[in-house]
Amino acid sequence: MHIDIISVVPGLLEGPFSHSILKRAEEKGIATIRVINLRDYSTSKQKQVDDYAFGGGAGMVMMIEPIARCIEALQKERTYDEIIYMTPDGETFDQSMANMLSLSQNLLILCGHYKGVDERVRERYITKEISIGDFVLSGGELAAAVVADAIIRLIPGVLNDESSALTDSFQDGLLAPPVYTRPAEYEGMKVPEILLSGHEAKIDDWRFEASVRRTRERRPDLLSKQGSGKGDLESNKK
Ligand code: ADE
Repeated sequence: MHIDIISVVPGLLEGPFSHSILKRAEEKGIATIRVINLRDYSTSKQKQVDDYAFGGGAGMVMMIEPIARCIEALQKERTYDEIIYMTPDGETFDQSMANMLSLSQNLLILCGHYKGVDERVRERYITKEISIGDFVLSGGELAAAVVADAIIRLIPGVLNDESSALTDSFQDGLLAPPVYTRPAEYEGMKVPEILLSGHEAKIDDWRFEASVRRTRERRPDLLSKQGSGKGDLESNKK
């Protein structure tokens, strides 16, 4: 997979992509990420990429010309499965969207800033608009990093077996069960006996029940999403 990210603050994206899993994915050649500075596509001396909003009001709007020039130059190099705009009024990002996007070959992500982009950019170029939640960030960069991380870790070969994405929260519509490691007892706090038993089927049952319990307590909305029958939940059992 290749992800191009267009930004007016490319430095904001250096940190997330130079560490840990994303770095490893890049080194293994499984996923490459390139950050493109939108100002490189401005023709003005001051590298201007934004201007006052027509109709007045506070805040600047990102202009269409540099964005159009940038996207069209990138489209000459590759065909994108999606051209994504990060925006708080987009579709809310979740695990099923991450699963779907992880099947892409090429993605282009445009990060908004200031009051956002001229609406005509959205009309002409954008195929998908994503929000990472009901709050407003100062720009789309951190949101793009969140989306890129969630997608890339799902690509086969990126995670090792111990951190397999299959057992993550949300992957089967349930929150993940509690986990424990050594010591088996800490200041009187004991690890549930069953996890020390070596009995795989019973451990699977315990984890499943713990997942359902945790989901019911913390996110009952997830259970109603899957239908109410026990059969629906049972089919999620690993
Ligand atoms: N840009 C600013 N806020 C955002 C959000 N919540 N999600 C995606 N992009 C954003």
